[in-house]
Amino acid sequence: MKLFDVYPINPIEIVKGDGSYVYDVNGIEYLDLYGGHAVISIGHSHPHYIQRITDQLHKLGFYSNSIEIPLQKQLAELLGKVSGKKDYQLFLCNSGAEANENALKLASFYNGRKKVLAFSGSFHGRTSLAVSATDNPKIVAPVNETDNIIFLPFNDEEALEKAFSQYGEEISSVIIEGIQGVGGIRVASNSFLQKIRTLTSQYNAIFIADSVQCGYGRSGEFYSHDHAAIEADIYSMAKGMGNGFPIGAIAISPKIKPWFGELGTTFGGNHLACVAALAVLETMEKEQLMQNAARVGAYLLQELKGFDKVNEVRGKGLMIGIDLPEELNQVKKDLLFKNHIFTGEAKPNVIRLLPALNVREKEADRFLEALKERLNRL
Ligand SMILES: Cc1ncc(COP(=O)(O)O)c(C=O)c1O
Repeated sequence: MKLFDVYPINPIEIVKGDGSYVYDVNGIEYLDLYGGHAVISIGHSHPHYIQRITDQLHKLGFYSNSIEIPLQKQLAELLGKVSGKKDYQLFLCNSGAEANENALKLASFYNGRKKVLAFSGSFHGRTSLAVSATDNPKIVAPVNETDNIIFLPFNDEEALEKAFSQYGEEISSVIIEGIQGVGGIRVASNSFLQKIRTLTSQYNAIFIADSVQCGYGRSGEFYSHDHAAIEADIYSMAKGMGNGFPIGAIAISPKIKPWFGELGTTFGGNHLACVAALAVLETMEKEQLMQNAARVGAYLLQELKGFDKVNEVRGKGLMIGIDLPEELNQVKKDLLFKNHIFTGEAKPNVIRLLPALNVREKEADRFLEALKERLNRL
C-alpha cells in the first residue's frame, strides 16, 4: 500500500530530538523554532515527560471512559489552576478539530440555535463543522457546506455589531482564535474580543476561544484571549497540551450543564494522554515557561522590529509572524536548508515562529543572526 499523498514534505528525516534541537538521520542538528506545527511546548524529549509516560506505560496504557480514571481529575484540577479557570469543566478529546467540533456542538445544545459567527483568515480544523468555520473554501467539501456559518471581517467591530443586530437570537456561538495562526499570525484586538464578550452575553450566544495554537502559555498568558481580560464560555485546546502526545480538550464555563451522552469519545482522556498532559503542566509550572515565553518572545519581537526589508512583525510571546515581501519567498527554505533552522509559514509570505516555551535567548540570537544573513544576501 502507498501513502495517500496529501502532504508536501521536506526531504529531511528527523530521528531524534532534545530541547529545541532535532537531529536528522545523518546526524545533522537543526534548531527547531516550529515544534512540528506548534506542538512541542516543553521541548523534545523532556526527561520529566519521558519518565511520566514510561511509568504509566508500565502500569496501564489504555482503558475507556467507562471506568474511574483519577488521572483525568488530576489533569482537570491542575489545568484549572494553571489556566486560572478553576470553576470550569474539562472534556477531553484527541485533537484540535475535535475540540472545536465539540465546542460548536455544545454551544448549539446549550442555546438550541444554529448560526455561528467566524472570521476571515480563520482556521479551526478539518472535521465537519470546524472546517465549515474555516476560511478556506478549498478544504471545505460539498458535504460540509452550510448556511449556518457567517464569516465576518476579522477585528471589525462594526460588522460584528451589525451581524448581531441582523441575526440576533439565531446566533449560537462566535468562534475566534486570539491570535490567528494559519491565517498569518494576526492578533485579535483587545477591544474586538471585549466586544464579542459583550454581544455574546447580551444575546445568550456562546463565546468560543479557539486556543488550539495560540493557547497553552504560548502568548505569555495561558490563553491568548486573557490579554483582553475577558472570559470566554468555552476554550478549545490541543497542540502544546501533550507535547506531541495526541490530546485535545475543551474547558467549559460552569453555566453550561452536562447531561449523560451529550459528548463522547473512545480515546479521549486515556491514561497515557493524561500523564503526557500532566507532565506538560507540571513542567510549565516548575520551569515557569509562560514567563519564559513572555520574556524571550518580547526580546524576539523587539529585535525583529529593527530589521529592514521586513514588511511587518506580528504576534505575542512565542507566536511570531515575520511578514516578508513576496520577492523574499526563498528565505524560509534557505533558513532550513542552509542555516538548519525549522520555521513555519503562512500565505502569502509569512515566516511563523512557534518554538518550545523553554527556548532560550541564545537560540533566539542564533535565529536573528541567520535571518540577518539571509536578508542581507538577497
Ligand atoms: C487555531 C487552530 N484550531 C484548530 C486546529 C486543528 O487542530 P488539529 O490539527 O489538531 O485537528 C488548528 C491546527 O492547526 C489550529 O491552528
